Amino acid sequence: MNCIHIVGNRPQFIKLALLHQAISLHTPFQQKILHTGQHYDKTMSDVFFNELKIPAPDYQLKINRLPHHTQIGRMTEKIGNILATEKNSGVIIYGDTNTSLAGALAAKKNHLPIAHVEAGIRTGDERMPEESNRYLTDRLSDINFCPTTLCKKNLEEEGVPDSKIAVTGDIMLDAWKHAWERIYNGAVLEKVPPHHYVVATIHREENNESPARLQSIVEALNEIRKTIPVIMPCHPKTKKKIKELGIKIHFQLQGPCSYLQMVRLLDHAAYVITDSGGFCREAFFSGKPSLVIMDRPFWPEIIEQQQCLQTAATRQAILDNFQLLQKVPIKYDETIFGQGDAAKRMATILAQEWSQ
Ligand code: UD1
Repeated sequence: MNCIHIVGNRPQFIKLALLHQAISLHTPFQQKILHTGQHYDKTMSDVFFNELKIPAPDYQLKINRLPHHTQIGRMTEKIGNILATEKNSGVIIYGDTNTSLAGALAAKKNHLPIAHVEAGIRTGDERMPEESNRYLTDRLSDINFCPTTLCKKNLEEEGVPDSKIAVTGDIMLDAWKHAWERIYNGAVLEKVPPHHYVVATIHREENNESPARLQSIVEALNEIRKTIPVIMPCHPKTKKKIKELGIKIHFQLQGPCSYLQMVRLLDHAAYVITDSGGFCREAFFSGKPSLVIMDRPFWPEIIEQQQCLQTAATRQAILDNFQLLQKVPIKYDETIFGQGDAAKRMATILAQEWSQ
């Protein structure tokens, strides 16, 4: 039996690094990596493969810069053709991107077993491209690895049978702990940031594709920066939009960070402002209060803990909620996302399920 990991986006590379290693240690499977090319910039892809010591992809499709439907269609076709030659394989899918859905469709049509890492997340916002990717990928998968018990409950409510669900904890917690070990053990980082600032990231379509929302977010960050420095490691797409719209920035805008740099940047930060589901979880692991700019955030688990507040994308709402964020008492239940051993649990389950 072989395993084929299908990845294409920055957060998927981070999860792949951990699960690839755990499968090497805890299963007899041979592994291959298929990279769709959805993220292709050096800073969005190569940096992660190098820093996290991920083997080079066996297949590289270079499919990017396309509308969602075309991207999913083209990826499904190309992945399907490859999987047709990989008959004795299980397929591992990560998260909720176009790469995830295309990989799941292509695997299903080739009658290959599918495991989905980060299953069961729901926002209820059908306009988000990721929401249909999540729902459909979960439905197509034979094993749904849920990061939390709420994710399991979401799947149960949709009628997914128990036999297809495993709560493993969040593999991002494994990744974050692993990164910390490397930093403590002296991993060399190019730039060590100063202390006490807001670290902000914006990349989600609902914020990027709306000039009014993007303008409001930047204006709010410009205002916040008058009282505390703001650093934004910027997705290339967001940078392009800001430039196109001629929006004036008065805070520190820089290129994307590597994973270790990001963990370090977070450690020295006082607060996080983001629309990333991964980064607000990492803020939680680091004990940093975060403000999430999304109409319907996908981690109610963290919002319940009050370590994360949700805000609308208007200038005033962001400023008001940022004030509030500085006052809320923090409750912190460390167990929500498991013990940081999700990758090992997943590998153990795969060894049982796929060896039969
Ligand atoms: C994608 C995922 C999102 C995930 C995010 C992680 C979908 C629908 N969205 O969003 O769920 O949270 O990845 O970062 O799959 N671009 C570059 N360089 C790159 C990559 C992208 O310039 O290396 C630009 C391109 O113009 C591209 C645009 O960003 O067309 C959008 O990229 P895409 O990969 O489609 O979506 P993300 O916004 O990154």
